[in-house]
Amino acid sequence: MAVTARSHAKINLGLAIGAPRPDGFHSLVTAYQTLAAHDRVTVSAIPAEKTTIHLTSNEAGVPTDARNTAWKMVERALLALDLTARITIHIEKRLPVQGGLGAGSGNAVAALLALEAELAIPDSAAWRAERLRLAAAVGSDVPLFLIGGTVLGLDRGQQVFPLPDQPTLCCLVATPAVGVSTPQAFRDWDALWDDRELTAEASDDTLDQLSRVYAGACSQAHFPREMHAAADSSGVLPAGPDLAGPLVSALVRTGIGNDFERVVFAQHPFLSEIKRLLAAVGTPEESLYASLSGSGSSLFGLYRGQEQAEAVRLRLRALGVDAFLTHTLPRAAYWPEMLLPSSG
Ligand code: C5P
Repeated sequence: MAVTARSHAKINLGLAIGAPRPDGFHSLVTAYQTLAAHDRVTVSAIPAEKTTIHLTSNEAGVPTDARNTAWKMVERALLALDLTARITIHIEKRLPVQGGLGAGSGNAVAALLALEAELAIPDSAAWRAERLRLAAAVGSDVPLFLIGGTVLGLDRGQQVFPLPDQPTLCCLVATPAVGVSTPQAFRDWDALWDDRELTAEASDDTLDQLSRVYAGACSQAHFPREMHAAADSSGVLPAGPDLAGPLVSALVRTGIGNDFERVVFAQHPFLSEIKRLLAAVGTPEESLYASLSGSGSSLFGLYRGQEQAEAVRLRLRALGVDAFLTHTLPRAAYWPEMLLPSSG
């Protein structure tokens, strides 16, 4: 038997970066948001005397060895559980690799959840805490996928706190054919810091304050139950002045933005043009919010309705920029459909 898990994408609703730290990481504050768009990860595990892992993917750019986050996660989980098994992992890629959508990080969590189901690992508070620790060791963006929905990310991004669920919004994700290295983007950020262009604004105090502002904005943006009921079958809300986006509006009022835009747009000015198109300011398609996701190169726009998002997608396509339509995925929708029926 094998178990298949969905491996969702994430976007960052704002991302503020602090100064470099002695451990080589940067403190940051971000609000992650999971999306409906996903890869699929299938795991089979047969108890054996020693652990072996065989990983395949339909996408040539995916590493099929111990560099793969899904491989790392499964290997560490087996060690922590004191189990040995013959493992096969297949990653069916649909999301862009290294696009700032956390696809590799999501793959790690999907592989873990599929492994747990495959080996019937009992749920316990101790194991939940342990797997958050293991996820954080695999990558800063991994633990958020053990929460899902809207998630506050602190420290190096691995310290995660669930924020209140929000109704779904249409999301258009542009996937320009540009590669951005996350460690390099952080180094470029440091170069700004070295030049003292950045001031105490980005200090830890400011980040602390910002995390409270984010959490405050998110918890104020509660949504009456009847408005969830107004959503259509895909979970998307009907268009209306204040029916959609209270969270996003609350966050936008806090002045959220993605600090990576400063370094990434300087190197790839075309990306800021894509953001401008996604924002569609002053048109009927105007987005609630548009931004680079993570260090890019994916960018996204959030819209009240599908027609607006579709109109913007056509404009991007006319410029030769690929983009796909999806929607934000609240926690309440993230977990129930995580595991797919057995593929035999
Ligand atoms: O944790 P993850 O493996 O995703 O990080 C990849 C690299 O990105 C790190 O080695 C570090 O250079 C950089 N990074 C950082 N600060 C963070 C997260 C990542 O500098 N908060």
